[in-house]
Amino acid sequence: MHTTEREFVKMVLIEIKDLHASVNDIEILRGVNLKINRGEVVALLGPNGHGKSTLLQVIMGHPNYKVTKGEILYKGQDVLAMSVNERARAGLFLAMQNPSEVPGVQISDFLRAAINTKREKPIKPIELFRVIDKASKEMQMPHDLASRNLNEGFSGGEKKRHEILQMKLLKPEFAMLDEIDSGLDVDGIRIVSQQINEEKKDKTFLVISHYARLYELINPTRAIVMINGRVAIEGGMDVIKRIDQEGYEWIQVEHNINIEREDKRPIVLEICAVNERSKQ
Ligand SMILES: Nc1ncnc2c1ncn2[C@@H]1O[C@H](COP(=O)(O)OP(=O)(O)O)[C@@H](O)[C@H]1O
Ligand SMILES: [Mg+2]
Repeated sequence: MHTTEREFVKMVLIEIKDLHASVNDIEILRGVNLKINRGEVVALLGPNGHGKSTLLQVIMGHPNYKVTKGEILYKGQDVLAMSVNERARAGLFLAMQNPSEVPGVQISDFLRAAINTKREKPIKPIELFRVIDKASKEMQMPHDLASRNLNEGFSGGEKKRHEILQMKLLKPEFAMLDEIDSGLDVDGIRIVSQQINEEKKDKTFLVISHYARLYELINPTRAIVMINGRVAIEGGMDVIKRIDQEGYEWIQVEHNINIEREDKRPIVLEICAVNERSKQ
């Protein structure tokens, strides 16, 4: 069965091996192993404070996290050796759990910088406004979006929609969405999940949410649960539904895993792929 084996190897998009990462000398990720195949939609669950956001930030290259051991391979390339911009160019994208408000930066400038990171020739202004206008309509965002400041005065739901709008414009191959449904009302969840379903055709997703409601709409191929900085268990919609209804206690009992209590620790500032670029 050599061919099948080779085909399987070819299909792996991202592979994380024994990843350890710390913030302020506290080890948060303690040996994450995870392989995601091209075309998958992987649901990432886990109690608060167990390293879900940290994992995504480390994959994207947040400077606050120090990788102390392990590796991340994306299409066989060493991700940890790449800058944030190189990762974005290679097709990685992160929609952050708490997108920051950046009062001095206009959305059109921000999106232009982000789009240009991935292009040889800069996008023409007319083309830029055309794509922003189209994406804003699809996301049902305000028509004057382009002239507003990044996330300033946005409601929680608008911030989340704007993250998906960025994903639509940047066209990543591997999109990581961190609690994309938090702060969204029923309409927002419908719009966001519709967009994810459309983008599923040519993208691979890693999606953090606490709620079965979102996952029922986007139909993940697999669910993984992160506990104590490691991938503790894996399953399907059954695991997601059980967590939604019962929480995490049963994993402690049935899988004999001691779930450590979340410590109250300082919150990190989040970055995104284009920060370096938009400063230039
Ligand atoms: N700058 C920081 N300093 C110290 N601890 C931090 C920092 N940022 C995050 N942490 C801690 O790392 C742990 C994992 O956080 P996080 O990855 O955000 O968890 P999750 O997304 O699973 O809720 C938490 O205990 C959090 O308090
Ligand atoms: Mg988180």
